[in-house]
Amino acid sequence: MMTKDAGMEKGSMKATDVLVSQHKFLASMFGYMERALPEAATSAEVAALARLAEDLIRDHAEAEEMLLFSPLDALLTEKGQFAHFYSSHKEYMRLLEKPQAPMAVTEARSLLLLAFRILRTHFHDEERLVIPLAHAAFPPESLEKLGNDWMQRHAPLESSEP
Ligand SMILES: [Fe+2]
Ligand SMILES: [Fe+2]
Repeated sequence: MMTKDAGMEKGSMKATDVLVSQHKFLASMFGYMERALPEAATSAEVAALARLAEDLIRDHAEAEEMLLFSPLDALLTEKGQFAHFYSSHKEYMRLLEKPQAPMAVTEARSLLLLAFRILRTHFHDEERLVIPLAHAAFPPESLEKLGNDWMQRHAPLESSEP
């Protein structure tokens, strides 16, 4: 259900919308990297892509934990529904660190491809669980407040206000 007025003005995306748009952005970055991988001739080049993916995922995981999972967990009567995501985030960091170690370039490529596959599945799982819970638990204005806080994290990169 879409309302025309709410959520359309600049900087008033719901946190759940920010989540989805970040997942889309990250998945498209993985796509670019997957297409670049066959051209990566050395394990150092693969490592550089893995490091970039690691930085992007670390920032995303920090933001979603702080601005969505933890406030949501505080509202839910059944606590700890996000423990799985918190612990899996640490695993994904390790999956993205692995191809940065010295190894054959073919091995580094397949480790990175595996990490991308697992992360895409994680995005889907997260959206399936978190979005309905968040919409049920938060009033829309709270979701927008969290969404604005999330967007603000990137504000210095995106806009220079006069
Ligand atoms: Fe996540
Ligand atoms: Fe996520």
